[in-house]
Amino acid sequence: MLNFTFHNPTKIIFGRNTIGTIGEEIAKDGHKKVLMVYGMGSIKKTGVYELVVNSLKSHGVEFVEVGGVKPNPVLSKVVEAVNVARKEKVTAILGVGGGSTIDTAKAVAVGVLYEGNVWDAFTKEYQPEKALPVYVVLTLSATGTEMNPNAVITNEETGEKYGMSYPCIYPKVSIIDPSVQFHLPPKQTANGAVDAMAHIFEYYFSGVENTDVQDEMAEGVLRTIIRYTEKLLNDPTDYEARAQFAWCTTLALNGFISAGVGGGDWACHAIEHALSALYDIAHGEGLAIVVPAWMKYTMMRNLKKFQRFAEEVMEITPDGKSSVQIAAEGIEKLKAWFASIGQPTTLKDAGIPREEIPKIVENVAKRTLPIGKLVKLDKEDIIRILEIGAS
Ligand code: NZQ
Ligand code: ZN
Repeated sequence: MLNFTFHNPTKIIFGRNTIGTIGEEIAKDGHKKVLMVYGMGSIKKTGVYELVVNSLKSHGVEFVEVGGVKPNPVLSKVVEAVNVARKEKVTAILGVGGGSTIDTAKAVAVGVLYEGNVWDAFTKEYQPEKALPVYVVLTLSATGTEMNPNAVITNEETGEKYGMSYPCIYPKVSIIDPSVQFHLPPKQTANGAVDAMAHIFEYYFSGVENTDVQDEMAEGVLRTIIRYTEKLLNDPTDYEARAQFAWCTTLALNGFISAGVGGGDWACHAIEHALSALYDIAHGEGLAIVVPAWMKYTMMRNLKKFQRFAEEVMEITPDGKSSVQIAAEGIEKLKAWFASIGQPTTLKDAGIPREEIPKIVENVAKRTLPIGKLVKLDKEDIIRILEIGAS
């Protein structure tokens, strides 16, 4: 096991009827006025908006609002919200929504305390050590942003979709009430499943050895995600399934499973971010295309692990097969499972022609190459992976 520091300061309040505690949590930290950030309106349909507003009011917390955060959130919205936050002199940011909204809230929290362009924090030109405190009411379990120090934003001017990761943007408090996800479109549940699984894969397959306890946890969470995704696609209002699924997605990227494994691989995410920067495609959909292709390309470099994954997670029976066969069957079964939950698994499925591959690779190459850890990928490798995932 590698040396590690584990320090996750986010307080999680989890369960039914917990959203009404947000006002108290914010008020007890001494905040009198906050900026509430949200998306395209789902929180008004689900009743979450009303719960939050009533809770803030009943605890004497004033608020101003910036709505309209789009999926795959953009820098211009961050800048707009930073201006409102400054003008209104708020002392904290409250994100109410899915990953796009929460990531926007985190970027705003950084931007308010920085005189320059907040994009600098994404290019690492500015490495923030301070941000306004961020509070979260999560309405979509997928990204793990509710308990991690990351935010991902697209700069519409340059077409770059970059993540930033700084301890100062761990949410102070995150409320997760799985019951507000009963009316999520099934597509979003499927996106969340793929995203959370991909987060686990970024560490599980990164090639670090002696990670037995982490692998056991990873496999347990992966199996649980598969089981409860299937249940949720049959019955979206199954509370227990929502709760199990929600906590899995938090655990997938809150530093717990990855402690002692090093920083992870992250090539699949880098390639996917180019897809969702360039095309109208959800992060989870892009990953369902990239992950199986990356696995096929890198399998021989970590054969033992791919075999273990096939047997322990994808339930491939060894019966006299070679390691290569078992590992390959595991990848095929994962890809088929992604398709079974309604995800595209090729560029073609997503309506992206093979001819676009050079453009996608150029977008990935805007960041420093090579990417990845198990296999260090340069342009040629990324082309090959996308060709595997093309059709
Ligand atoms: O915008 P609204 O109206 O709220 O609707 C959203 C949106 O259309 C809807 N939704 C959310 N909660 C709902 C709901 N609909 C009904 N009922 C509810 N309870 O769902 C749609 C998708 O929302 P979005 O926030 O975009 O999805 P997600 O949570 O999957 O976030 C994806 C973004 O997070 C980034 C992705 O790249 C992408 O930009 N990521 C962030 C990470 C992080 N911060 O750690 C890590 C990930 O790897 C990822 O890159
Ligand atoms: Zn992700």
